[in-house]
Amino acid sequence: MSKNIPIKLDYSYLAPEVTVNDLKWWQTSIDLAHEQLHKGTGAGNDFLGWMEPSEIMPKELLKLIKNTVIDLRKSADIMVVVGIGGSYLGARTVIEALAAKNAPEVIYAGQTLSADYTANLLSYLSDKRFCINVVSKSGTTTEPAIAFRLLKNLLEKNVGKEAAKKLIVASTDPVKGALRKMSNDEEYVTFPIPANVGGRYSVFTAVGMLPIAFAGIDIDAFIAGATDCAAACVVETSIEKNPAYLYAALRNHLYGQGKSIEIMATFEPRLRFLSEWWKQLYGESEGKDGMGIFPASVEFTTDLHSMGQMIQDGRRNIFETFITIEGGMPSIIIPEVEENLDGLNFLAGLDINEVNKRAYQGTALAHRDGGVPSMSFILPELSAMPFGALLYFFEKACGISGYLLRVNPFDQPGVEAYKENMFALMNKPGFADKTEKVVAAIKEKAGKSIVTF
Ligand code: PA5
Repeated sequence: MSKNIPIKLDYSYLAPEVTVNDLKWWQTSIDLAHEQLHKGTGAGNDFLGWMEPSEIMPKELLKLIKNTVIDLRKSADIMVVVGIGGSYLGARTVIEALAAKNAPEVIYAGQTLSADYTANLLSYLSDKRFCINVVSKSGTTTEPAIAFRLLKNLLEKNVGKEAAKKLIVASTDPVKGALRKMSNDEEYVTFPIPANVGGRYSVFTAVGMLPIAFAGIDIDAFIAGATDCAAACVVETSIEKNPAYLYAALRNHLYGQGKSIEIMATFEPRLRFLSEWWKQLYGESEGKDGMGIFPASVEFTTDLHSMGQMIQDGRRNIFETFITIEGGMPSIIIPEVEENLDGLNFLAGLDINEVNKRAYQGTALAHRDGGVPSMSFILPELSAMPFGALLYFFEKACGISGYLLRVNPFDQPGVEAYKENMFALMNKPGFADKTEKVVAAIKEKAGKSIVTF
């Protein structure tokens, strides 16, 4: 997918086996989905700005981001990214996967309403040199707005009001929203989130790039990987030649066979947030109108000792998508021990990476034999270029897959329902007329079926 560091998609572990021939009847729908994306004729067509990474992140903007990072690092050792959903998951995914051990620290706020988490964070930061990247496209999301208010107060207390202004960077809508207004008033450095890019597709905008650059990751290579992948995923629409379209067709083919849960399975703890990002991307894009493949995740081999049982033997409504890394991991050789009390000498001289690889191979085979088909993405190494390509790949495949399902892959109307109730319960201006109804509905249920033990 990336010209320079190619990724492989292996789908030989599907059972029953699926060949490109079996998918041929998807081609007409794929061609239509391609046209909807590339000609902008489909639902949500005002949110297609993500499709060209080099256009949303041109070289001059990359330079500006790098210069901003150089400035921030002069006075800050830590960056706090304040955002939720698409406004933080992309950055966290890349940083957790790629940041070097001694890289400048990036931590997260505003992705939870937990007082415990927030108290720990504020206490940790109280004597540290930190800067804030507050990220909100709407500029009004409750969780980051609360966290930002608290962190801004702390920063002002630590360094003074004027110095704090220079340590706050806002990524938000170019013209509207409370955060834009505040940024203009306080004269923060700002980066615009393009109006035509939704949160979960925003990792290649400043939303992702600023924190990723702060963590010392090569953002040029990351964008280059995405750009390569964008080119590779457009020249051909044929399932045979376009891997993103193949993945979209395969998962919808499996969905048609009753496999309504897709589990992303990784073998590296560093990839935990790749699964979180992917779940948001596919969950928010496809889960609507009573449709959608439920995206779930496991971290192997850890979860082979818990969820492994359910996957091997439970209800046969799942398929797996493995992510494996071929090389570049540190080598740890299992030592030979004379007494061999643990009986492990049969492994002596073997690299743990090899054991992990054999665990993957054994798992894919066992799960396939147990009725769980799988596909595998094989990355040559965990580095910026293939990772940029992989994230872009999933975005492109998601747009196509959403159109195959005949949903709008770029909106998320369902996330408003809880917010409306929460706002009504808090008497937020504009929601007070709903308060009575929501309070009554909750009261009506309160304590009806409850046991204390
Ligand atoms: O993907 C999305 O659109 C959402 O996850 C948003 O990113 C999230 O709700 C945060 O919204 P905002 O950036 O407006 O604060």
